[in-house]
Amino acid sequence: MTDATNDAATPPYYRRHIFFCLNDRANGEACCARHGAQQAFEHCKAQVRALGLAGPGQVRVNKAGCLDRCAGGPVAVVYPDGVWYTYVDLADIDEIVTSHLRDGVAVERLRLPPDVGR
Ligand code: FES
Repeated sequence: MTDATNDAATPPYYRRHIFFCLNDRANGEACCARHGAQQAFEHCKAQVRALGLAGPGQVRVNKAGCLDRCAGGPVAVVYPDGVWYTYVDLADIDEIVTSHLRDGVAVERLRLPPDVGR
């Protein structure tokens, strides 16, 4: 059986990957789409591009469906670090981009508490 982790000699295709929940619930239940998730996603993509961080070997910004942590929404998660964020405005996104995605330092004040679920 082969280990699922990357061979140490093979660099990951993306150094960091951030996923934004963009889930929208039509029934009125809490969801990230009602808390500015689409705008945050688009802003993050634009900032990553503007800073020259986008592309293979660097950073990828992706949409996601519900990540099942809706009570803390809007949420985003950065891999391979496994750091979950909740954010309020675009300045928060700017900080995640420069501190975490560019410099590799998690933004502690925006971390989603570990017990937040759906
Ligand atoms: S709706 Fe965003 S985590 Fe569930």
